[in-house]
Amino acid sequence: LANGVNGVVMELIWITDPHLNFLGQPFGPKAFGVSVFEEHPNLDAVVMTGDLAECDSFKEMVESFAQGVGKTVWFVLGNHDAYNGSIRWMKKQAASMKGLARWLVTEKLVELAPGVALVGQDGWYDARNGKPQTSNVALSDFFAIGEFLGKWGNGIIAEASSLADNEAQVADRSLREAIEKGYKRIVFATHVPPYALATWHEGKISDGNFLPWMSSKVMGEVLDEIVSEHLDVDITVLCGHTHSPGTYRRAPNLTVLTGRSRYGYPCVSGEFNF
Ligand SMILES: [Fe+2]
Ligand SMILES: [Fe+2]
Repeated sequence: LANGVNGVVMELIWITDPHLNFLGQPFGPKAFGVSVFEEHPNLDAVVMTGDLAECDSFKEMVESFAQGVGKTVWFVLGNHDAYNGSIRWMKKQAASMKGLARWLVTEKLVELAPGVALVGQDGWYDARNGKPQTSNVALSDFFAIGEFLGKWGNGIIAEASSLADNEAQVADRSLREAIEKGYKRIVFATHVPPYALATWHEGKISDGNFLPWMSSKVMGEVLDEIVSEHLDVDITVLCGHTHSPGTYRRAPNLTVLTGRSRYGYPCVSGEFNF
């Protein structure tokens, strides 16, 4: 486990939104995994913050990526992982995975180093930031994910809010459990940015049309409450979904990192040493 250099015991590599289904052969998910290992030969584990592939492919593809890396890949799921299926089916498949690639929701908590925990929850956009009622954005999600089929307008808004509320509630429990166990540093992996100010898109914050679908206000409220109650606990949020990188320091003990991505060109968004 330990590479032992300057007290560093653990190297975690962060990748978001790899959309592995857009990789063409011969450079498939496994080859991408091999290349990540070659570029980071001291890595101990990988964390992926959603949009791994699609509902019928993410399971095989993230496992094959993990085989290429040769290390555990801890992941949460994004909206694209439910495409051509449903959120329910996506989660069921993720929960059954027993190989090198593991869903953080079933793992609940991973100790990265003494006092440092990795916790994850998929998350969902809650249609509460920005202008959901007048938004002209129709995500492919509404036509490609079972839970949204046949829903329009307010039906979509209500479904998104309810999914996001549920995700935030579970996250609240998992984070509080980690704190009760004594962890002072928590890395929290989730797909959707929890704050409007973390919805980076090409160097700017998403506008009122996109914000309802690019952020989870309710997840932000959960995090705000936890860090204000526990000033001795530091939380770093890793998220994706907007595909552009940025850092938002929400509080002295809460930082949100949003990661970069481009269809067909997955990349490493960060390297952390604990
Ligand atoms: Fe994505
Ligand atoms: Fe996404």
